[in-house]
Amino acid sequence: MKFFVDTANVDEIKALIPTGLVDGVTTNPSLVMKSGRDFKEVIAEICDLVDGPVSAEVTGTESAQMIAEGKVLAAIADNVTVKLPLTIDGLIACKSLSGEGIDTNVTLCFSANQALLAAKAGATFISPFIGRLDDINIDGMELIRDIRMIYDNYDFRTEVLAASIRSANHMKDCAIAGADVATAPPNVITGLAKHPLTDKGLEAFLTDWSKTGQKIL
Ligand code: E4P
Repeated sequence: MKFFVDTANVDEIKALIPTGLVDGVTTNPSLVMKSGRDFKEVIAEICDLVDGPVSAEVTGTESAQMIAEGKVLAAIADNVTVKLPLTIDGLIACKSLSGEGIDTNVTLCFSANQALLAAKAGATFISPFIGRLDDINIDGMELIRDIRMIYDNYDFRTEVLAASIRSANHMKDCAIAGADVATAPPNVITGLAKHPLTDKGLEAFLTDWSKTGQKIL
């Protein structure tokens, strides 16, 4: 499973790159607002830092505007993926941009039927939002499993990009369900390394090591 970082904060991305865990980046208008940065500038900077796909979202609501915006965003760098909302206009824009060889990420997906439409429109990625479904007491992970099954049934190439991830359990369950990608905030990604028994074991090893009076360097 590939790991994308869900942030428009360049410092957070820079801090994670040495871990080798940044296979790509996803942003959305709310994350750009939070960064306080100019949208096109920050996307260009992120694309320079990261080799993998960087999702940048259109803000038009009609297909013609989405297509025009998508072309502007795609021209920023080779690794821009144009993010489009899961509406009929978004699907029209997806079909058009994908047909021109531009990578697309259809976002705000909350049902398996929506995911089926995105695959038929030629989306590179579909972004089902797990956390926001959990928030309204609908099992977000069941959606990931359903989409995986539908895409496998018909050999769709669209990658399942699990989004709105809030916890380490979400990451584990996405991997079990066979999501191609999971996008998560940096703290969720670094949190995967944490275990109290690791901390306890390390403390005991270092205490014993100090008693040997030896040094490696
Ligand atoms: C993904 O592309 C979205 O930007 C993101 O995962 C949304 O997460 P949220 O529901 O925590 O805002």
